[in-house]
Amino acid sequence: MPADPMTSLWADAAMPGGLRWRTLSPADAPLVVEATSEETAPALWGPRPVGPYTLADAGNALREWDPDGGELASYGILRDDRLLAAFGLMCEPAQIAEVAYWVPPRHRRQGLASAGLRFLTDWALTSAGFRGLWLEIDPTNPASVGVAERAGYRFDRRIPGHCRSWADEDPAHDTRHDCLIWVNP
Ligand SMILES: CC(C)(COP(=O)(O)OP(=O)(O)OC[C@H]1O[C@@H](n2cnc3c(N)ncnc32)[C@H](O)[C@@H]1OP(=O)(O)O)[C@@H](O)C(=O)NCCC(=O)NCCS
Repeated sequence: MPADPMTSLWADAAMPGGLRWRTLSPADAPLVVEATSEETAPALWGPRPVGPYTLADAGNALREWDPDGGELASYGILRDDRLLAAFGLMCEPAQIAEVAYWVPPRHRRQGLASAGLRFLTDWALTSAGFRGLWLEIDPTNPASVGVAERAGYRFDRRIPGHCRSWADEDPAHDTRHDCLIWVNP
């Protein structure tokens, strides 16, 4: 009997290559500060801050995604207490969840996002009781499309003007862009 996904967002497992995959908690804020130190764009999971997180930013981000709330959780790939990749899980009704991902600039293009998304997907669909996962991808982000493809997701549809660009803080003056929906299974 699969677990109820609303009560099973905590996970901790070994990954190949001596890596560890586990749920992140507010105690991991210093790891997020270190991991975002060279970032020049948004990281996990909102549009702000752009660039490095302060300890307060990191603590707030991880508290907002408190797994004990049963709806949002962040997961990390770690090596020796360094955060090499992060994944956000947003639970929806009917055991469906959206996934987001971010890899620190110096660790990109090493297969971490695709390996982590494959790992998370396998855990969610076979152990944690989810029925399906989906990704929302900016069509101008080939790296994110590559991760979806390599993790075994399939393109579902394109939604015109679905996402805010966050070029302007004021929603009335902001622009919007299309987004691609990729799903698994
Ligand atoms: C998107 C992101 C998570 C990819 O992480 P990553 O660990 O570098 O990804 P992978 O190494 O697993 O790459 C998988 C595939 O994606 C594609 N890809 C990755 N980076 C790419 C780039 N800069 N340009 C074009 N394609 C790219 C490639 O096809 C790659 O496979 P290959 O290296 O075998 O050719 C990372 O670039 C990132 O954090 N970007 C900023 C946040 C973001 O855009 N998140 C996604 C929001 S939807």
